Amino acid sequence: MQRPRLTREGILRWLRESDEARLEALWNEADAVRRNTVGDAVHLRGLIEISNYCVRACAYCGLRAPNHALPRYRMSETEIMACAEKAASYGYGTVVLQSGEDCGIATDWMACVIRRIKAETPLAVTLSLGERSQEDLRVWRLAGADRYLLRFETSDVELYRRIHPARSGEQSDRIELLRMLRSLGYETGSGLMVGIPGQTFAGLADDIEIFGELELDMIGVGPYIPHPHTPLGSGEMAIGVAPEEQVPNTVLMACKVVALARLVCPEANIPSTTALATLDRREGHGLGLCRGANVLMPNLTPMPYRTLYEVYPDKGAIDVDSAENREQLRTRITALGRTLGAGPGGRRRAACRHSAPD
Ligand code: 5AD
Repeated sequence: MQRPRLTREGILRWLRESDEARLEALWNEADAVRRNTVGDAVHLRGLIEISNYCVRACAYCGLRAPNHALPRYRMSETEIMACAEKAASYGYGTVVLQSGEDCGIATDWMACVIRRIKAETPLAVTLSLGERSQEDLRVWRLAGADRYLLRFETSDVELYRRIHPARSGEQSDRIELLRMLRSLGYETGSGLMVGIPGQTFAGLADDIEIFGELELDMIGVGPYIPHPHTPLGSGEMAIGVAPEEQVPNTVLMACKVVALARLVCPEANIPSTTALATLDRREGHGLGLCRGANVLMPNLTPMPYRTLYEVYPDKGAIDVDSAENREQLRTRITALGRTLGAGPGGRRRAACRHSAPD
């Protein structure tokens, strides 16, 4: 049976809902839609944090260029290839190459790394390297990159401008960039932080509607976690909204957004994020998986780099360095009544609800 489409008012009501019994209906609905669309498989994406250099000065993020307390690193091609081989040997279908917005990542160097991963492993390659030029994105797509992740964070232009200062006077338009990524043939992912100061319930409802309008293939959402070496996390910068309008940065709110993302983009791949697990180390990942998510991202970044990729403090990353940990992860997934995903686990575009006849 066709479900009635979720309206903006419907989204807003769920965001404000506090009755646990009624919320149970949202969790059940999101879980049912997840099961009927993407099934019970939990896909594991191996996360490789290839560089923590960043030219940006985002008010919330520990990798911001003005954070001089953070030692910087950039992994070599050999180091990245070793991680990719690990991912393949663990049976993962995808690696996610993530970094700050790092001008030191040269277009051709990156293209070469992508070509090697595609030639030497069966892995799908997801890039998450920030805002890059159309030319870079085209070259990397031609080199074989399959997917690109770029969170738009907020569609509230005024809030975006405040938390994400323009570079060389030019304000970016990430929503436009996402459309461009799609037109280049990437599977396209986006998302946001839940509960960033200045985020209102109304604004968040708009953002979730936009997930649906963009027909995203992947949606990553996690709670905002204050970082003491950032203007927003240190209290040096305050963004005031009426307290009853401010979205809280809680596990519950983040779960609501995961569930609503599943309802507006039924076929999307949705991770249960590291940020969610950071706020609730015991239950976070499981809660996300039971409330709409179908992806986990074990961290393959070698030490000590992993500790230096400090977007926020005390990251609750999934550690799969030992065979025992890998077995534990498998046990946790099967205990939820789920299976381990096999293959690259891409978006099944043919089944897209909105696919236009041409
Ligand atoms: N808390 C939670 N998530 C954060 N990110 C950046 N800083 C924080 C923070 N303090 C998220 C952003 C970014 C992604 C790489 O990490 O959404 O897109």
